[in-house]
Amino acid sequence: MLSPPPDSPAVPEWLAERLRAAGGSVPFLDYMDWVLHDPEHGAYGSGRLVIGPRGDFVTSPSMGQDFAQLLAPQVAEWLALLPAEAPLTLVETGPGEGQLAQQLAEALHAGWPSLAGRTELVLVEPNAGMAQRQRQRLSACPLPVRWSDFAGLASAPLRGVVLAHEVLDALAIERIERRDDHWCRQRVVLRGDHLSLEAAEPLAGPLLDQLDGLGLLPLDDSRPEGWSTELHPGLEPWLAACAGALSEGWLLVIDYAHEAHRYYAPQRSAGTLMAYRRQQASDNPLREPGLWDLTAHLCLESLEAAARAGGWQPLGGCRQGEALLALGLARRLHELQQEPASRLAELLQRRETLLRLVDPASLGNFRWLAFHRDSTSARSPATPQPEPLFLSVPSP
Ligand SMILES: C[S@@+](CC[C@H](N)C(=O)[O-])C[C@H]1O[C@@H](n2cnc3c(N)ncnc32)[C@H](O)[C@@H]1O
Repeated sequence: MLSPPPDSPAVPEWLAERLRAAGGSVPFLDYMDWVLHDPEHGAYGSGRLVIGPRGDFVTSPSMGQDFAQLLAPQVAEWLALLPAEAPLTLVETGPGEGQLAQQLAEALHAGWPSLAGRTELVLVEPNAGMAQRQRQRLSACPLPVRWSDFAGLASAPLRGVVLAHEVLDALAIERIERRDDHWCRQRVVLRGDHLSLEAAEPLAGPLLDQLDGLGLLPLDDSRPEGWSTELHPGLEPWLAACAGALSEGWLLVIDYAHEAHRYYAPQRSAGTLMAYRRQQASDNPLREPGLWDLTAHLCLESLEAAARAGGWQPLGGCRQGEALLALGLARRLHELQQEPASRLAELLQRRETLLRLVDPASLGNFRWLAFHRDSTSARSPATPQPEPLFLSVPSP
């Protein structure tokens, strides 16, 4: 049972009311959805979370233009593979502050003007608080830009590229815990005016069915009483909805992820769930609900299975460090040395950012995972695809 630290404030009244109305407890999945996405009280829903070095946490595009400029050739390569003259779309899901969308639009406009000339930018952002800031940032975007959702796009599916950068880790997850000889679902329970996380009903149905494939069954002594982790039931519906928005094109997922044998290794006894706020990390997801970002890693096998079920063909993946080196990061570092020393402070800052983007102990450990879809022709969905640029081995 996980409770907030003794000095933590009591549960906010809005959440206490919701929990009372739900009978005193809800599955962790519902709690995570509320505290992140509630339009008034959620950390993203309200637009309270700020992404960037002076905000709550940094992401690769929030540190400068280099990330988007390195990614742009990959996006351009994919767009160029689509039928000539067809209108093209670049979709960003979960755009946060809108930095990646804006920077990519600028990079495409500058480097691939004819492709950019027939490309529209579509942002898929369910949280009104975040969408408001994205509108401000993209007010002078060089590409035509609009906001939509997957259901809206499905009525006229698009050709193009979908980017999901650090968004799938914000999908609500189920927490499960070993109790006696069962796997149990954890619930967030209102106890007086505080919250606790408690093992409740034994797992059943599709949640239980997937445990075997993840190495969590049969239960043995390697995962003792109280051992807990996460499952990702939101992935498959999300990937299916995303596929429905695209008639032909690519999806690039960039996120923290582990293989199942690492994710569910006995020594990882409390999963990967973390909370972030004001550049601080906490392993207590019940802390100050609605003020902290909550994020859980993806499981690579679960993601691939959900993608296939959703209508995507996996093309492969690698770590961000390798991807950015394949896309020219080393050359970029070298070019910095040729710049005039009068801009030393700026150059040192960019050098630090570039190194951080590939540092295996930092953002370099992110996974880049590519998927393809083509529902437009009679061709088999497994038609061989050219290897994504980012998977090519960087030249020495
Ligand atoms: C961690 S931020 C990532 C921001 C941005 N991609 C970046 O890297 O700077 C997560 C973003 O995903 C949005 N989001 C959360 N759930 C989503 C969903 N189901 N579909 C699309 N976006 C979602 C959040 O509102 C927020 O804008």
